[in-house]
Amino acid sequence: MLHDLICELESDHSLEQPERLRERVDAMERLEDVLAHAQEADGTPLLRRARTLHEKLADVQHRLCEAIRQAIVLGGGRQALDGWATPCARPAPLGYDHLDALVSEVLCFDEPGATGSPATDMVFYQPTPARHVFDLLDRARLGREDILVDLGSGLGHVPMLTTIHCGARAIGVEYEDAYVRSARHSARALKLDRVDFLAQDAREADLSAGTLFYLYTPFGGGMLRDMLARLQQESRRRPIRIATLGPCTATVAGEPWLRAQGPVEADRISLFRACSS
Ligand SMILES: C[S@@+](CC[C@H](N)C(=O)[O-])C[C@H]1O[C@@H](n2cnc3c(N)ncnc32)[C@H](O)[C@@H]1O
Repeated sequence: MLHDLICELESDHSLEQPERLRERVDAMERLEDVLAHAQEADGTPLLRRARTLHEKLADVQHRLCEAIRQAIVLGGGRQALDGWATPCARPAPLGYDHLDALVSEVLCFDEPGATGSPATDMVFYQPTPARHVFDLLDRARLGREDILVDLGSGLGHVPMLTTIHCGARAIGVEYEDAYVRSARHSARALKLDRVDFLAQDAREADLSAGTLFYLYTPFGGGMLRDMLARLQQESRRRPIRIATLGPCTATVAGEPWLRAQGPVEADRISLFRACSS
């Protein structure tokens, strides 16, 4: 019942505490659901209360994200996200949660509209859930000398979180110009000077700097095979690692020149090290 929900959320003042992120995002989603399906018959005063409550919680959320943004701009790096990016033994399977809501507001994603259907073998944009990005960063233990290259970087949160969380350099390569423009805008606003975004087909990108290449299945078929052949060539010049998520993991796991570091699982990022050949 709408009345019961509004009374329950109005009386829970703990939702205004910044650290109650999960509960606040959940409450906001419940209110958004109510407002999206509202009928006038539900009673205007009740809907007004739902809107007011949503605005109040959105304001708490906005102030929290602004404080984190300021900390990042001032060079707060890892500490800026401390408390939110806490490592856990095993992140929950894929799917988005309160951490994604926080990250997209902190990075100020300016999601462009439709970009048309991807070409054969290319995969449309879908972001890696934030907790899985932090899970990768905790396991990969990147140093400042490392360079993560996200092949098919979309709106760019993997490279940006890498540089904020680890201080490593990061490069995003993305085919869709509109995504690259948005990613550059987000990075500039946060004064992230160790991240670059290249508007390019990943198959033509200069791979010579990367030490860790990340693929959230940006493409499959022949395109993936070509990219793996290029990465194998890179591995003959220097030690590299590859991290994968999604269906491309099975193909990558079958490459004889790569060794998995840890278990290879369908719903978690897998990490591989190239063996010298
Ligand atoms: C599944 S999304 C992953 C986005 C991002 N890496 C992440 O994990 O959040 C795949 C991305 O790869 C991009 N992509 C597909 N084919 C590409 C290609 N040949 N070169 C560069 N980017 C490509 C798509 O536009 C899309 O943004």
